[in-house]
Amino acid sequence: MGINGVEGDKTLQSICYKRGSLRLLDQRKLPLETTYLDIKDTKDGWEAIKEMVVRGAPAIAIAAALSLVVEVSNLASFNGTSDDAATFLRKKLDYLVSSRPTAVNLSDAAVKLNEVIDKAAAEAKEVNSVFQEAYIEATEAMLEYDVMSNKAIGSYGANFLQKHLTDNQKITILTHCNTGRALHAQGVLERAYCTETRPFNQGSRLTAFELVHENIPATLIADSAAAALMNAGQVKAVVVGADRVTANGDTANKIGTYSLAVSANRHGIPFYVAAPLTSIDLFLSTGQQIEIEERSPKELLHTRGGLGEQVAASGISVWNPAFDVTPANLISGIITEKGVITKNGADTFDIAEFVRKTSGDL
Ligand code: MRU
Repeated sequence: MGINGVEGDKTLQSICYKRGSLRLLDQRKLPLETTYLDIKDTKDGWEAIKEMVVRGAPAIAIAAALSLVVEVSNLASFNGTSDDAATFLRKKLDYLVSSRPTAVNLSDAAVKLNEVIDKAAAEAKEVNSVFQEAYIEATEAMLEYDVMSNKAIGSYGANFLQKHLTDNQKITILTHCNTGRALHAQGVLERAYCTETRPFNQGSRLTAFELVHENIPATLIADSAAAALMNAGQVKAVVVGADRVTANGDTANKIGTYSLAVSANRHGIPFYVAAPLTSIDLFLSTGQQIEIEERSPKELLHTRGGLGEQVAASGISVWNPAFDVTPANLISGIITEKGVITKNGADTFDIAEFVRKTSGDL
């Protein structure tokens, strides 16, 4: 799903932004309805993120930051000292970060925007249009970077898989949650298998929809069919996304990812994570430190990830973690917008070194 563009484009846009206006595709309604919600301020933004109107780690970050941009752009006046304005913006960012905890992209965006706010506040005593503009421009630049980095991840991933896996033949990949369309554009893909991604069904409702929409040869499987598919020799590589990658390469992603990595390992199938550098959290050394969001029991008790009718017995207790952590030793490589991070001789990732070496690229 694209970020920012015109509603009705060939690629469906999940975030439609222009100065003063933000519209989010209501992903809960897909694939049956294409409806956009108007986001007027951070409260609307927070609710849209919490309720999964917009989802997926990078999109959450951009939608949150833009909801504050829209609020700021539409404020009749933004008077007072620049310190007052900075405090106002920081509070709003903290509030937005509280919407969903596992994906690091949102807090990463907040840290970067806080730096912009601090700098603007230091430069101007009174709030003026320059101050306001500094915040708006920094967020708009993030939006542009996100669009660019998505494309770069796709092309690095496709080139890498082509070079290492294809023997000049097209490959079949298995994806989980919402990943993996760029291979098709590069002509590398024979077929994409996508999982349903229970309980919220991002795979059957969103990935399958996009695959069909973009005419990509694709097959939907139940999450529980993945090991059998691998055993049948139908999967050349697994490609998943990430909500947070720690310094050692451990990766939090949609629940079920860890099971896929274990099965891939059992079948000798390479397992790749595709994510922007904004999903990397060098402050955490291992995945054990990642906070895993637990979501409402309703997502399991009812169909359509909690949005449909009840199917499970009333009174049953439910454990519903939205993500799990795949240890780095089950991951073959991490595909980013600046290249593919592979392991060194000791079978470990040196992600900090990769980030340092590539800073400034793109
Ligand atoms: O809970 P969601 O729908 O926001 O899930 C996040 C994800 O889409 C995934 O975990 C994904 O694989 C990485 S982010 C594109």
